[in-house]
Amino acid sequence: MPIRQVPDYTDPAALAAMEAKVATFPPLVFAGECERLKAALAEAAKGQAFVLQGGDCAESFAEFRADTIRDTFKVLLQMAVVLTFGAGMPVVKLGRMAGQFAKPRSSDVEKVGDETLPSYRGDIINGAAFTEAARLPDPARMEFAYLQSAATLNLLRAFATGGFADLHQVHRWNLDFVARSPLSKQYEGLAARIDETLSFMAACGMNSDNAPQIRETAFYTSHESLLLPYEEALTREASTHRGKTYACSAHFLWIGDRTRQFDGAHVEFLRGVANPIGMKVGPSMEVDDLLRLTEILNPANEAGRLTLIARMGHEKVEAKLTPLVRAVKAAGRQVVWLCDPMHGNTTTQAGYKTRSFDAILSEVRRFFDVMAGEGAVAGGVHVEMTGNNVTECIGGAHRLTPADLAANYATFCDPRLNAEQSLELAFLIAEELKAHRSRPERPLVQAAQ
Ligand code: PEP
Ligand code: CO
Repeated sequence: MPIRQVPDYTDPAALAAMEAKVATFPPLVFAGECERLKAALAEAAKGQAFVLQGGDCAESFAEFRADTIRDTFKVLLQMAVVLTFGAGMPVVKLGRMAGQFAKPRSSDVEKVGDETLPSYRGDIINGAAFTEAARLPDPARMEFAYLQSAATLNLLRAFATGGFADLHQVHRWNLDFVARSPLSKQYEGLAARIDETLSFMAACGMNSDNAPQIRETAFYTSHESLLLPYEEALTREASTHRGKTYACSAHFLWIGDRTRQFDGAHVEFLRGVANPIGMKVGPSMEVDDLLRLTEILNPANEAGRLTLIARMGHEKVEAKLTPLVRAVKAAGRQVVWLCDPMHGNTTTQAGYKTRSFDAILSEVRRFFDVMAGEGAVAGGVHVEMTGNNVTECIGGAHRLTPADLAANYATFCDPRLNAEQSLELAFLIAEELKAHRSRPERPLVQAAQ
């Protein structure tokens, strides 16, 4: 099939040898887990759960450290607890972690001064340094990406079920550098209410020992399914789910906005796996194409199978998203709609790729309004964030300005929300959820218009 965004590997034999090697590696996830996530997403499609998908734009080999993984996980737990309180419903936790290494690029080349080199495509493909040697796609990188994914997933699983995610630890998820911020006070207030609730439940006989829901959480992994040689090598027929084939590099894979051609290789690949999958939906998506893609990717109209991740840019939400949501609903297609308020709001300021917190928030609010207006379910959010104290997005409680970006601009690709901005966003989304939940149903007459 025609394929976009593929690296120019110069040594096909080395590529084939690496694919054969990866094909012998154990799967990173198990079919039963993917099915459990699909069931959780089916709840989100009905408005009975809310999805929080977040993590790095691009994970990197250089940032492969326990504290990086731990701190991002902590912030996701904090956000989830804020949202659980706000929404009064379970939060499906989906990391852009343990495999988010391949990046689509708008341009095949990058120019610095007089020199033009191939673009950086993520650590699984080439290196970020602006040298000819680093930018050469190297199939050997797949092996380290696999190993880093396995180790990251191992730590995430340990955290999720080993006691770190126990609700009694809610205070410990607060990161030191956030402790002085107003968000921290708000968070501590919520944590105190959780403590009180846990004491009450303990008095009624429910505690971490006898209620696993208090002690542990389900945490799933996801990434963009871009590098098909790697993805195919990790695709296996499930022994426990006969006749079904799963992509075993993560629980959930998505198709990016640049590779969603209905006759293209990326759609063809994800069509054939049984995992829950996602597709980015940007402002260039036409109604007919979206309907056709939802049929191709989810022919059985299975709930939880397909998540549509809208990334319109805050100013285009009403005009672009409304007709798509309306058409999908009218066609009776089962989907989860997520809002990615990051990718349509990227600008360059003071020489840095950045995003403004206000634009991000505005896209989320407008997304909620469009969904409510169409009688559709706002299923969750998809964000690029980190537990590190980075300065990549402007605005937020600390009112970061373009002049502040240089202080700690560490991303390998797109600008991420830092821990404090992530928490602030979670509180604001929780308010939206509360507001929309308490809003009365529209009268039938009005709804029919
Ligand atoms: C991404 O999620 O990092 C990304 C590249 O998104 P999109 O395909 O929506 O541009
Ligand atoms: Co990105």
